[in-house]
Amino acid sequence: MHQRSHTISYLSVPRPEELSKADRELLAAATTALQNSYSPYSNFKVGAAAMLEDGTVVAAANTENAAYPMCICAEPNAMAAAAALRPGMPVVAMAVTVKAPNRVLDTPASPCGSCRQILSEHEGRFGHDIRLILRGEAGPVYVFERAGHLLPFGFSGELL
Ligand code: THU
Repeated sequence: MHQRSHTISYLSVPRPEELSKADRELLAAATTALQNSYSPYSNFKVGAAAMLEDGTVVAAANTENAAYPMCICAEPNAMAAAAALRPGMPVVAMAVTVKAPNRVLDTPASPCGSCRQILSEHEGRFGHDIRLILRGEAGPVYVFERAGHLLPFGFSGELL
């Protein structure tokens, strides 16, 4: 019997001003996208901005549906928009930010399990990490070197 452990390391950057210009701009694009959130049911706005390998930035917000399971998170909306705009072009970074209806979130919200699965698939498909830049409405920015780090022991096509 073996006791094993898994650790994830990430950067906690106190303020967005301390990010590189490219990361700061990507986060700003996510914040702008969030304003277009269609979220009348949760009133929880999420914005995601994808940086493609060729430098293109594609951003999207969450889009909800009266049939709740049909709600689409901001991250897959941005991934789908990127795939439509630049087919075959890897996403190399994604910034995600959120705005809650009744309080200022000062810790980053991280992508849900299904978003993590989508981001991990993309990393495997293109053999390229997606750097994740996460922030609440205020507070620190968390930077993960690759989205797959948020999905340890995830299901992958290697098993099929
Ligand atoms: N949401 C996202 O857009 N991304 C996530 O990773 C988690 C949740 C959205 C879905 C729904 O519109 C709202 O946030 C509340 O769950």
